[in-house]
Formats: sequence, structure tokens, C-alpha cells
Amino acid sequence: MQPTKTLDRILSKAGLGSRTEARRWIGQGRVEVDGKKVLSPEAWIDPAVQKITVDGKPLIAAPKRYVLLYKPKGYLTTAKDPEGRPTVYDLLTEIKQKITYVGRLDADTSGLLLMTNDNDLSEHLTNPESHVPKTYLVKSSKLLTDADLDRLRKGVELEDGMTRPAIVTRVRDNEKYTHLEITITEGRNRQVRRMIEALGAVTLKLVRTKIGQLEIGGMQIGTYRDLAEREVQLLRRKK
Ligand code: URA
Repeated sequence: MQPTKTLDRILSKAGLGSRTEARRWIGQGRVEVDGKKVLSPEAWIDPAVQKITVDGKPLIAAPKRYVLLYKPKGYLTTAKDPEGRPTVYDLLTEIKQKITYVGRLDADTSGLLLMTNDNDLSEHLTNPESHVPKTYLVKSSKLLTDADLDRLRKGVELEDGMTRPAIVTRVRDNEKYTHLEITITEGRNRQVRRMIEALGAVTLKLVRTKIGQLEIGGMQIGTYRDLAEREVQLLRRKK
């Protein structure tokens, strides 16, 4: 096996930030290898024998952290909002490490959001080819027929293409609304809302209840917890 890796990958694997951020730092001339500035993110480096520094400080891999947050509605999945609205980071009161969200939830969506500095795992979970299932509870603005639910199951045409087959269960109907559970294996922007829109309805409530095998269970809204090692292993599993 090749011990060498590209410089951007080494920095992001060390948990310093995303590959995009790593490429920016390299481009800014902040990264040195064996005392020499390296400006190419694609430079092949052997971290076992070569000495890497960022802003003059030796590269030390940050301990990996995996945090599961039950995001309430009204919090943005972003590091900083120019309009000063609350973000998911406002909820991580005790976390000093730099961790990043794995995919986003809309401001109006509540439920499970995974946050980590393990960029490899993050890439695996957000890659549509990994087919990681994500489950949502949906309240639709109108009663949906069995044919509507079948359309969701088979795949609906969105402007960015057909959706993959989904697992859909009617949870309950009342006079005006259908509550359903849907499991999808992609994570396109606003995907569930757009699937419901394709049926001529609007999503009134959206909660993510599962990511892979991680379940919301008895978590309280607005709280977070660290994942157990076993839970991390389950997330790492390839399909
Ligand atoms: N699908 C959506 O439409 N919104 C989310 O926040 C997550 C999935």
C-alpha cells in the first residue's frame, strides 16, 4: 500500500477542516513540508517521514469526535449566518473542537444532524453512492392517496432527475392531513419537500428520525450526545 497521500487529503484527514479549506490554506502558502512552502494541494507526501506544518505549527491529528444533535426548527445548518439567525453551533455549548455537519437540514426541519471532524466518514455518508438511508416523518398539507404514496415509492421526477425508490409508510390521516414516514438513500437539496411538492402538497412538518442505524429514540430536542464507538463502526460500514 502507498504510504503517500496528497497534501490536501492529509490535512483534512487530520481533522483540521474540509478538503476545500485545506486547499485554500495550501494556496495561501500557510503549509510547509520539511521546511519548504508547498503550494500544490496535489503534492504527494508521506506523513510518516515528512514534517508538515500549518502556520508554522506541526500538524497533529485532532482526536475524532462524533456528535449527534437533535436540531430544533429555526436553527440554520451553517457556520455563520450573515443575518445573525441562530445556527446549530449555538446549540453545541460544550464542544470546543471544530466539527462540521454531515449534510444539511433546512431551517424548518428538525431532527438528527450528525457533526464530526472525521472528513472520511463525512464524505462516505454524504456520497449518494453510499446509499445511506435517512428516515423522515412528514406532515403533508393535504390528504395523500395510496397512488400518491406509490409515486413516492417508485420515484418522482424532480428538476434534477428522478428520485430513487423510497420506503414509504402512511402513519396516520386526520381530516385534512397525511402523516407519513419516508426513507430515502440520497440527500439532494430539500429533497423530501420537493417530493411532496411533486404531489401538489406542501410539507408542513419535517423531522429526520434516523440516519443509517442511528435513531432519535428518547433524545430531547435541542440536545446532543457523543456516539458510541459501536455506532461509529456501523456508520462506517459500506453497503
Ligand atoms: N429533505 C428536505 O426537504 N429537507 C431537509 O431538511 C432534509 C431532507
